[in-house]
Amino acid sequence: MQVIKYAFQQHGDDRGQLVALEEFKDIPFEIKRVYYMYDTSEGVRRGFHAHRNLEQILICIHGSCKILLDNGKEKKVVFLEKPYEGLYVSNDIWREMYDFSSDAVLMVLASDYYNESDYIRNYDDFLETAKNKNK
Ligand code: TYD
Repeated sequence: MQVIKYAFQQHGDDRGQLVALEEFKDIPFEIKRVYYMYDTSEGVRRGFHAHRNLEQILICIHGSCKILLDNGKEKKVVFLEKPYEGLYVSNDIWREMYDFSSDAVLMVLASDYYNESDYIRNYDDFLETAKNKNK
């Protein structure tokens, strides 16, 4: 499984840093939704789902966390700790987010609106979908 991590351009000067993200330029899809997680309780693991169609970019804009990516055949863990790094997560990838630092803010840019029917929340269903896709 190929892990796609973007290093966004930092517009830094003696005042500090700034990162700007534009759809189709820095982000490979139309950004229809932004959400973020913070004040995550210690030891919490979130996610536990894949999406049928949704594409996302995960950016830990403060603090750090780990992301487990699973394509049904292979698993990879990515550590996010830089506000200028973005992890691309395509559809049909099972993801779990964990080891959030107490100050972590995990921001997600998504290619579509929230839609519960796009979620695969059962791991066996996910494996079945992944198997059928690779046939
Ligand atoms: P949930 O799917 O449990 O988050 P995670 O993927 O991190 O485990 O979402 C938590 C709650 O937030 C749930 O009630 C659904 C709601 N929610 C929205 O209303 N819109 C959104 O875009 C997202 C991602 C979640």
